[in-house]
Amino acid sequence: MTANGTFSRQDAMAALAWQLDLGADECIADAPVNRYDAPPPPKLPKMGTGSNIAPLGQSTATQAAPVMAAIEESAAEVAALLAKRATTLDALRNAMATFEHCALKKGARNLVFADGIPGARIMVVGEAPGRDEDLAGKPFVGRAGQFLDRMFDAIGLARDRSQAPIYITNVLPWRPPQNRDPDADEIAMMLPFLTRHIELAAPEMLVLMGNTACKALLGRTGITRMRGTWTQAAGRPALPMFHPAAVLRDPIKKRDCWADLLTLQDRLRA
Ligand code: URA
Repeated sequence: MTANGTFSRQDAMAALAWQLDLGADECIADAPVNRYDAPPPPKLPKMGTGSNIAPLGQSTATQAAPVMAAIEESAAEVAALLAKRATTLDALRNAMATFEHCALKKGARNLVFADGIPGARIMVVGEAPGRDEDLAGKPFVGRAGQFLDRMFDAIGLARDRSQAPIYITNVLPWRPPQNRDPDADEIAMMLPFLTRHIELAAPEMLVLMGNTACKALLGRTGITRMRGTWTQAAGRPALPMFHPAAVLRDPIKKRDCWADLLTLQDRLRA
């Protein structure tokens, strides 16, 4: 600070460097937002979760855990109600846009719903939007998305090819901060929307890209073991595959990725 109590350019640069060290990687608004002043989210309806609340007298931490679990459980119930009521993909997108219980929404620029052609025989389920997808409001448009397009193009499929289309979505519709992995609570909260999305898009088969999609729809992870073997998810055949970002990070996986695309092609031709 300068002698007259104002901040110098050096102070401002030091403050910026500190924020970068904390992980800030972009400016999302011209003016800062004090989240403590933000209005609280709408109250969740009570839905049979009262028994999860710890009795008074226990330590704050002991009480907080079941309360948080109850909130997340009832948020998933709200999601399930909204999802069930939606009878078209547009209605589902609108329902998700009005869902205020997932904290990720507050830090995201856009809801990322889907891309490609609804009704396609194949529905691809990825993880969550990254920076490019958050900006564009479309799934898989960054580097991993371009690679995903090349993968499917190699077997004659594309998100914009009306003769051989694919339809693409993610487990989460909002970008997690710093592209961290979605956590189990976020996945559970948003799962009713994903399962309804699958019902409404009605694909013949699913491709589960990476561990997050497997965790959401199969309830387990271990993509290295599961990839390339057909299983059942959301009531239809599902093929787990390496996530395209994982293949880009570790090109040795390209061979397995190609083998899995051929497995998919065989099923399409059967
Ligand atoms: N990775 C994903 O899983 N989904 C996207 O939309 C982009 C990158």
